[in-house]
Amino acid sequence: MNKQKIILDCDPGHDDAVAILLAVASPKIELLGITVAAGNQTIEKTAKNALNVARFVKSNVPIAIGSAEPLVRDRIICEQVHGESGLDGFAFPNYPQDFDKRHAAQLMIDLIMANDDVIMVTTGPLTNLALAMKLEPRICQRIKKVVVMGGSTDNGNTSPAAEFNIMCDAEAAYIVFNSGVEIYMCGLNITRKVLVYDGIINRMAKINNEVSDMFVQLMRVFNENQRKTFQIPAAPLHDPVTIVSLIDESVVKFTKMNVTIDINHGPSYGRTNCDVFDYLKQEKNVYVAMHIDVDKYWDIVESAIRTFSK
Ligand code: RIB
Ligand code: CA
Repeated sequence: MNKQKIILDCDPGHDDAVAILLAVASPKIELLGITVAAGNQTIEKTAKNALNVARFVKSNVPIAIGSAEPLVRDRIICEQVHGESGLDGFAFPNYPQDFDKRHAAQLMIDLIMANDDVIMVTTGPLTNLALAMKLEPRICQRIKKVVVMGGSTDNGNTSPAAEFNIMCDAEAAYIVFNSGVEIYMCGLNITRKVLVYDGIINRMAKINNEVSDMFVQLMRVFNENQRKTFQIPAAPLHDPVTIVSLIDESVVKFTKMNVTIDINHGPSYGRTNCDVFDYLKQEKNVYVAMHIDVDKYWDIVESAIRTFSK
């Protein structure tokens, strides 16, 4: 089977880190490059984290740094969940900070213009992809689809209305969702079902390789911070849902529906208005994840971590 060629735009972030390791490990995916967004932490920190994780899992793909700020609103970060470093819990070796010299948007453009059927996967705010689409509109005809971790059919996690990745830069999300490219949205309504309980952590600890060690140490801190912040039993492992949906399409089921992004700067700023029951009879423009096979999800995470055993 031909590998799916992807670019991963991310803001590591504990769950982004697991998305990177899945993309690197899977025989069904060819990771063309990583681009970094500000989000969970400042761009300096998310960039360092992305490089550390990629190099730790032995990936030498190009990594390009993106925008430090959203398009319009003020920047927000998520230190309470991901910590001061943006990836608290694991000490990485000191890798050469050999970032690609191009801006993230330019690396996206160059890779998409040079490769057919590229799938854009985004697990952070959509600033970089929106910029790339405005800089080089031809990429919108070339991108096969965009798989987004973001939004929700129900309540947000950063305001009552909005999920973090969308709320960080709703204008960017508006540009991407209205670009004409096929959008597959993995929102909180699904990602909140894949909680990394202590039992999952203990299961992965038994793999006993250096990547399982990284997973375990990062997830323990991620769990603790999420419990304190949201009073939930364990952390939702949001971002890897995007990659898992590509590795095994039976795991995540999508329903096409009308989705609009609220860019009014009021209490619903950043909400993904998902017309689940087709009240408005508007164009069904987005595939929204509505079901996930949780057991298969964790089986895929486990098998990915096992690929790093010698
Ligand atoms: O709302 C969850 C999303 O926001 C995840 O991508 C997490 O990493 C943060 O970026
Ligand atoms: Ca993220």
